[in-house]
Amino acid sequence: MSNMGSHQGESLMPAVKTIALVTGGSRGLGRSTVEALARRGVSSIFTYHANKAAADAVVASVEHSGARAVALQLDTGETSAFPAFANEMRSVLGEWGAERFDYLVNMAGTSHSGLFGEVTEEDFDTAYRIHVKGPFFLTQTLLPLIADGGRIVNISSGLTRFSYPGRIAYASMKGAVEVMTHYMAKELGPRRIAVNTVAPGAIQTDFSGGVVRDNPDVARHVAEATALGRPGLPDDIGPMIASLLSEDNRWVNAQRIEVSGGQTI
Ligand SMILES: NC(=O)c1ccc[n+]([C@@H]2O[C@H](COP(=O)([O-])OP(=O)(O)OC[C@H]3O[C@@H](n4cnc5c(N)ncnc54)[C@H](OP(=O)(O)O)[C@@H]3O)[C@@H](O)[C@H]2O)c1
Repeated sequence: MSNMGSHQGESLMPAVKTIALVTGGSRGLGRSTVEALARRGVSSIFTYHANKAAADAVVASVEHSGARAVALQLDTGETSAFPAFANEMRSVLGEWGAERFDYLVNMAGTSHSGLFGEVTEEDFDTAYRIHVKGPFFLTQTLLPLIADGGRIVNISSGLTRFSYPGRIAYASMKGAVEVMTHYMAKELGPRRIAVNTVAPGAIQTDFSGGVVRDNPDVARHVAEATALGRPGLPDDIGPMIASLLSEDNRWVNAQRIEVSGGQTI
């Protein structure tokens, strides 16, 4: 894509053609996205927060499929680290013979629970930093490195459409992500950058302490609430995002696409 014909740099390897940055690519939905992109020939720079071993496993799995991957450490709640992160990105892109990357997936996140009457300001601020302020300023910082004609996917949640007690702070942050997506799409349109929201339903990952995967009562409740009759799996999401980022979906812009198997409809 954008990197075709760019300089090869110092590396003896051929320039990498299409490059994604996936935050939180070391586990769960991010890992599934990185691996699905690799199967389509897209190489990824992805981030992890603390679990380097999981990140290394994803690099090995991507390289097995013939694409390339590099894992970088990042706390998306720590905006002061973003300029240095952009420099790390520049350096990996240079090694790959590219000046820009094509796809940004703002995936990284943690779960936050608490009933309305109990949410503390500290919890609220943490959720805000990781889910709203982080993606906002990370995307802003990386704008010069995103190719014109590139694509951005921001991750929301089914919880902005349906409500569960105890998810008020988390879901409010995801609501902000959806509004932010609209505005990004409007302002980045002149650069031909499409921006969409993907809103997964309940998926069986480590998220929320793995509750949808490991608690049989929760898994049964989600299955009963879902038209397709089961909880979601990571690979219900990653390949969908890889498809949304592809040329086939180039005219999809400024949309919230829920990927929940029909949860609570
Ligand atoms: N699972 C669901 O049911 C579900 C439903 C709707 C939306 N979502 C959203 O989907 C996204 C991914 O969820 P998941 O289920 O894949 O979660 P997960 O399995 O817990 O993986 C979380 C990923 O984010 C990284 N991460 C965590 N905190 C971070 C921080 N402060 N800064 C940077 N990276 C951080 C983790 O890195 P380490 O491995 O280093 O910890 C890991 O790569 C989140 O935005 C979540 O809100 C999930």
